[in-house]
Amino acid sequence: MKFLGKPRSQRAAFLPLCLLFLKILHPGHSHLYSSRYAGDKVIRLIPNTEEEAYALKKIYQQLKVDLWQPSSISQVSEGTVTDVHIPHNGSRALLAFLQETNIQYKILIEDLQKVLEKGRSLPTQRSRRSVSGYNYEVYHSLEEIQNWMHHLNKTHSGLIHMFSIGKSYEGRSLFVLKLGRRSRAYKRAVWIDCGIHAREWIGPAFCQWFVKEALLTYRSDPTMRKMLNHLYFYIMPVFNVDGYHFSWTNDRFWRKTRSRNSRFRCRGVDANRNWRVKWCDEGASMHPCDDTYCGPFPESEPEVKAVANFLRKHKKHIRAYLSFHAYAQMLLYPYSYKYATIPNFSCVESAAYKAVNALQSVYGVQYRYGPASSTLYVSSGSSMDWAYKNGIPYTFAFELRDTGHFGFLLPEMLIKPTCTETMLAVKNITMHLLKKCP
Ligand SMILES: *[C@@H]1O[C@H](CO)[C@@H](O)[C@H](O)[C@H]1NC(C)=O
Ligand SMILES: *[C@@H]1O[C@H](CO)[C@@H](O)[C@H](O)[C@H]1NC(C)=O
Ligand SMILES: *[C@@H]1O[C@H](CO)[C@@H](O)[C@H](O)[C@H]1NC(C)=O
Ligand SMILES: *[C@@H]1O[C@H](CO)[C@@H](O)[C@H](O)[C@H]1NC(C)=O
Ligand SMILES: [Zn+2]
Repeated sequence: MKFLGKPRSQRAAFLPLCLLFLKILHPGHSHLYSSRYAGDKVIRLIPNTEEEAYALKKIYQQLKVDLWQPSSISQVSEGTVTDVHIPHNGSRALLAFLQETNIQYKILIEDLQKVLEKGRSLPTQRSRRSVSGYNYEVYHSLEEIQNWMHHLNKTHSGLIHMFSIGKSYEGRSLFVLKLGRRSRAYKRAVWIDCGIHAREWIGPAFCQWFVKEALLTYRSDPTMRKMLNHLYFYIMPVFNVDGYHFSWTNDRFWRKTRSRNSRFRCRGVDANRNWRVKWCDEGASMHPCDDTYCGPFPESEPEVKAVANFLRKHKKHIRAYLSFHAYAQMLLYPYSYKYATIPNFSCVESAAYKAVNALQSVYGVQYRYGPASSTLYVSSGSSMDWAYKNGIPYTFAFELRDTGHFGFLLPEMLIKPTCTETMLAVKNITMHLLKKCP
């Protein structure tokens, strides 16, 4: 309980470790990813007719675009916004096609490489320390996040316990933090995971922020104290560890896991289509080269299997499942796989309504909320539906900022405001759980 007794000396204890963090090399500030995204564009398109949607699907396939929104070509349809990342050598062909067909479009990002490099803080800002000796306003590599977890496990043993629930495809440990005041009494729990999709970097940054806020405000904020006294939080800052690592070292826009396929050269499975709930149906792909590939069978991915096993084992006391994604600014609840209303809809709906209001109260940022199927799109085999079907009554997926201006390249400058407002939403949902739903 060091943290509780001596917050000041805790801060000091952070410092040596922080120096250690600084020694870990960040990818160079210029020539990130060997400039492979120079000249790439992100374009928003809105097909107004079935014919236009059909034509777009065809050209997306031909040019092998990287779809940002929605996540699969099959979801491109009349009237829905699609954001595509088009490699530099295909952008001329795409623009010519758009002008010829008169399809409505807008260039969101002119040069992806430039935005990618501008979005990083300057080296001097990167090394800035917060009061707790760690900079939470930059994105951290997997190694940095794991070092941070080990460090907290040592220095905050009264509130934090770190453990592994298994290994990833490439053999990395799947670490989880159990956060909350230890107590003999029976306690309910909340599961939080971030980074199911590798390129959604704001997710892991939020998980780190949540832990930081919990430790810093436990003593001063009655709401936080109540949360940590009455509940345990299981927090998995990086679910898809292999994919996240790959998104730092090779491909910034990698989404899936990194498992190999026996028949295709394409690697990876969509870890949010791999769960045994209407597995590989609408909104998921059977093709290993697609970004929404459901995998060869449910729970084929060791990361998914490990979390599913953990949730199955602890489902009696886990009351809520929260999963953090980006981008869309939405708070989603079941179902994903069908257009239908869940039982106890009103409890979940009112929790979501209050949470997005709390979020908006900070900077006025608006979130849409509702069933994932009708608010975002239909997708089968998702973790949220699976958790709900397995008896966890409150299950939500956040799609954090923004709505496409930066997309997956949300600048580090926006980590703080994004996490600050999201924190209120999460606290609001958590307090809702502690009350009996009316
Ligand atoms: C663009 O370049 C990549 C790799 O250099 C290649 O695989 C792809 O076919 C090219 N696309 C077009 C439309 O020329
Ligand atoms: C966390 O700390 C405890 C001791 O307080 C230790 O037993 C455990 O192995 C640590 N977890 C990890 C993942 O190192
Ligand atoms: C949750 O948010 C609502 C506004 O949407 C607010 O009235 C309420 O006080 C909040 N509850 C908590 C515990 O933060
Ligand atoms: C609905 O709420 C009631 C009362 O709170 C509870 O007993 C029941 O298990 C809930 N059902 C579901 C599907 O969550
Ligand atoms: Zn996602």
